[in-house]
Amino acid sequence: MNMTRLKTTTLCSVPAWSLAALLGLLMSAQSLAVVPHQDAVPAYAEEQTILQIEKDAPEPGWTSPASGKQHDDRHFLLFTAQDGEQNVILQRGGNTWRTLRNGPIATLSGTLLLAVPLLILGFYRLVGPARLDQPESGRQMQRFSAWQRTVHWATAISFLVLAFSGLVLLFGKKVLIPLLGHGAFSWLAIISKYLHNFVGPLFIVCSVLMFITFMWQNLFRRWDWDWVKKGGGLLSHQHVPAGYFNAGEKLWFWGGVVLLGLVMSATGLMLNFVNFGQTRYLLQWADYLHLAGATLYIVASMGHIYIGTLGTPGAYHAMRHGTVDETWAKAHHRYWYDEVKTGRAASVPEQNAPGTAMNTSTG
Ligand code: HEM
Repeated sequence: MNMTRLKTTTLCSVPAWSLAALLGLLMSAQSLAVVPHQDAVPAYAEEQTILQIEKDAPEPGWTSPASGKQHDDRHFLLFTAQDGEQNVILQRGGNTWRTLRNGPIATLSGTLLLAVPLLILGFYRLVGPARLDQPESGRQMQRFSAWQRTVHWATAISFLVLAFSGLVLLFGKKVLIPLLGHGAFSWLAIISKYLHNFVGPLFIVCSVLMFITFMWQNLFRRWDWDWVKKGGGLLSHQHVPAGYFNAGEKLWFWGGVVLLGLVMSATGLMLNFVNFGQTRYLLQWADYLHLAGATLYIVASMGHIYIGTLGTPGAYHAMRHGTVDETWAKAHHRYWYDEVKTGRAASVPEQNAPGTAMNTSTG
């Protein structure tokens, strides 16, 4: 605290040009130093050692297999290679990973995670929700079976647990230690880590069930393009006709549940079960992809949660209780409503097993 104040006072009293000159001097000193520092930001002892060994090593040098050492995936082994990674003591990629993960990746991810909810709030205030034009009829239609709702909520809850615990792991040191102190944060981090490790595989099972349960209703149909061209009527407050799911819901299904689900599952399993001979280099790449996927999946889920609650009154009731008002069905899913009313599709039976709902309605 005192140090910070001292630094601030000192900085303020020194003219900007002298600071710039000092910085320039430091930077040029860095570039001229014996050990090439430029890749080591911040310059950790490990990195320095690697660079020094590389520089001082006699030909053919550590980077050549002829040296008798192994140079693999930017790993530097301090002992002759045996099997696996056990004898990796120094690895340059670790420093690069730490610098990127704690620097630009965390900054970009954090910015998106804060900006998107603000944009959604702005949208809600300026444009408002998709309300019904007609009063509710009072007649209910069955939309989601007990099985569909169970699968949805199991996936949603495990997703939220992973999102919160993952964000504690990513931002905790920077954001939570100043608020909670080291003791409380260490408990929170341990709990988050265990939750993340155990809920991860559960989430994969839920995502597979989700895929089987909802795949057929999410196949794209010709009228979906019209929905996309009209932006789903989100801005115009038009009710663009749609089938059982509209094109926006289908995009969330294929882009989020399927594509991002695959990215998160594959990279998550690589990080969770490190006993299959993955190198550190692969784990670092898995982590980059896991972080990118997590950020996209979480911000996309914010959009999904908004549309499923505040953005479309009646939608949450459907997933909570399984039913919707007929007026709601007609406004938001006209083609599905017509099919149910003309007997071409039954409304979803209350107790259907995975896959059986697919025959009951249009996409
Ligand atoms: C879609 C849901 C998921 C989200 C939002 C998510 C989010 C995150 C985040 C933000 C991190 C922190 C990465 C870092 O600090 O560098 C992380 C780490 C991790 N995740 Fe996930 N994750 C998800 C799914 C999974 C799954 C399905 C698994 C496993 C099957 C998994 C396993 C892991 C592991 C092992 C780590 C490393 C934790 C550590 O630092 O020790 N994650 N996840």
